[in-house]
Amino acid sequence: MIQVFEDRIFHLQGKNVSYVFFADGHGFLRHLYFGSKLCDLPVHLAQTAFLGAAVNFDGAQLPNDNLNAMLLENGCAQLGDYRRPSVLVRRANGSSLTDFRYEGYRLLDEHKLDGMPCVRGGKTAEIRLRAAGGLTLLLYYTVFDDSDVVVRSASLLNDGERVEIEKLSSFCLDLYDDSRDTLQLCGNWASECRVVRNSSHKGVLQISSAGRGATSHTTNAFLALPEHNATETAGSVVAVNLVYSGSFGLTCENTSLGICRIQGGIDEENFRWALNGGERFDAPQAVLVYSDGGLGGMSRALHRFYLRHLVNPTFAYAPRPVVVNNWEGTYFNFDSAALKEMIAVSKQIGADTFVLDDGWFENRNDDTNGLGDWNVDKAKLPCGIEEIIDCCHKAGLKFGLWFEPEMVNEGTTLFALHPEWALHNPDGGRVRARNQLVLDFCNGEVVEYVFRKMEEIIKKGVDYVKWDMNRYLADLYSASLPADRQGEVTHRYVLGVYSLAQKLVSTFPHLLIEGCSGGGGRFDAGMLYYFPQIWTSDNTDAYCRTFIQYGTSMCYPMSAMSAHYSVCPNHQTGRITSSEARFNVASVCCFGYELDVRKLTEEQREEIKEQIANYRRWQKLVTEGDLYRLANPADGLWAVCQVLPDKSCARVVGMHGLILENARPWLLKVQGLQDDASYVVQETGTEITGKTLRCAGILLPQVFRDFQTFALHLVKKQ
Ligand code: DGJ
Repeated sequence: MIQVFEDRIFHLQGKNVSYVFFADGHGFLRHLYFGSKLCDLPVHLAQTAFLGAAVNFDGAQLPNDNLNAMLLENGCAQLGDYRRPSVLVRRANGSSLTDFRYEGYRLLDEHKLDGMPCVRGGKTAEIRLRAAGGLTLLLYYTVFDDSDVVVRSASLLNDGERVEIEKLSSFCLDLYDDSRDTLQLCGNWASECRVVRNSSHKGVLQISSAGRGATSHTTNAFLALPEHNATETAGSVVAVNLVYSGSFGLTCENTSLGICRIQGGIDEENFRWALNGGERFDAPQAVLVYSDGGLGGMSRALHRFYLRHLVNPTFAYAPRPVVVNNWEGTYFNFDSAALKEMIAVSKQIGADTFVLDDGWFENRNDDTNGLGDWNVDKAKLPCGIEEIIDCCHKAGLKFGLWFEPEMVNEGTTLFALHPEWALHNPDGGRVRARNQLVLDFCNGEVVEYVFRKMEEIIKKGVDYVKWDMNRYLADLYSASLPADRQGEVTHRYVLGVYSLAQKLVSTFPHLLIEGCSGGGGRFDAGMLYYFPQIWTSDNTDAYCRTFIQYGTSMCYPMSAMSAHYSVCPNHQTGRITSSEARFNVASVCCFGYELDVRKLTEEQREEIKEQIANYRRWQKLVTEGDLYRLANPADGLWAVCQVLPDKSCARVVGMHGLILENARPWLLKVQGLQDDASYVVQETGTEITGKTLRCAGILLPQVFRDFQTFALHLVKKQ
């Protein structure tokens, strides 16, 4: 709900949150409150002596000190607010002073961003601010009756002479509280989303994926500010997650006046955008969440929100297929006979979908060639992909296929015909990574070519696509753009990616697309809008996965994470874990197998058949359940509880890490259950109330070996 008082005081109410701001007498948009839901307006906050001084001001000159001490919804540049500005625009006269003042507002039933992912539903306030030179800044605030978030974005309209946008933050949030911790999700290839929490700082903390053109393995487009004492289960947390998949930046600036400003969106470092008169530029959305239930409350608020308002409704709550993927099983080394055999075994063990990974197209026997032409390799598959699709469908399985749409190898026909279609250094030379170049997705012709190629193959009966991206951008130069628009490459590139994703989703509404970028290199809310699930990491080792999944779950729902059981010794770490541990860890996500199923013994096939049947029995907990993190793997034990929203059943799963202390006992307090209900533990037949499980907990048996695992299934007694 959005309430507006005197045309200038705005109270946005979500399910349990309020967000309040107002336009003061000078037209500055001032923040008052973001936190637990209020039923009255905290307008008294606007009348403190500090800010009151500004109220009589006539606007001719600015009391600089006052502006620097205000909580603002938009940080202006060069007006005496010495924090980082939210908007930087260089005008024809050379000035980049941005003095935006309130002009009015509109309430909208729907707010869509052209060509970019955006959340569905809610009520939106569009706030209009004007500056000299014909510039209008539109700030958008969307709230939802069923969610604890405020979604923000910003757009710039130009009615004057051409300007250069140097920065347009999606949001700016100022708080009178510089004592909060910061929590980031940092990592690398095969170790994505490690939780990094630091206590308060002064100055600017910046997280950014720089010129990579993707949100990256190194730092997720997410930042949380938990109160210093906030824990998994208690305390206040403010957090932001960008609905964006390109180069991003987020800053958290703590000033000497005790104010904290967080803002961000498109990374400003590699960004310039020329805006002609009559044009508009939209910055991507940012989701702001508030929880007074600690980090767990924050995560559940985000998870529920994404499933209700971001993920494609066709898939959001639908059971996802149990897949068999051949990548770690065969890598590039397979032929049609091998695939047919793998499909037969996949059928035997009860999988739903067989996914043929990299290597099915011409000149692709290793990772040095083949990307871009997308012609089926007749040496490996003499009867074409149709034969494999047919074989799957006849066995009652669906068929999935790997693509890496954004890339090209120099040995391909595509590259011979169109070398200019790859991003390149205009002075000569190209930066290669994994032996490949990045196609110029700023160029609509390139996007159209890739779409036609994919469409031709998908039409043959592909049910599922794994869309991979195995390198970041470099050579930020596009032959399709004039010199004065080269600063637009990283953002235009990601708009090209979105346009291809949208074309595929619209043309094939039932095609399930799994995102991937060498694992979690582009695990973000932007991708989640098109791809209901994303390959979480190339690291399939169960122990490493407990850390990766723990971190990723801070922000993203469990059904967004794709996780596979693979063989031991693990291909990335050489570690040996039990089959049960590998199943338990992967089974809290969208699940599958990443191995050569032909090599399974009869006994292993029977075991896997049982695992899949078991997964199906409890799968609703992955797609519909709420997640409660019970133990942090960094402390030596990973454990989660997934509970259906009606609290009728739950699954508690865990794995011990390295045994560093001599077999310490663990008391696991189970959260998320209904206090006054009795639950029957399926494994033992024991009956325990939700309250006892929450307060007294479960004493885990002592373990004397690394990676011991457990799973308990709880069903509420009627
Ligand atoms: C990286 C992905 O993350 C893997 O799962 C696999 O698809 C390879 N690329 C294929 O090249």
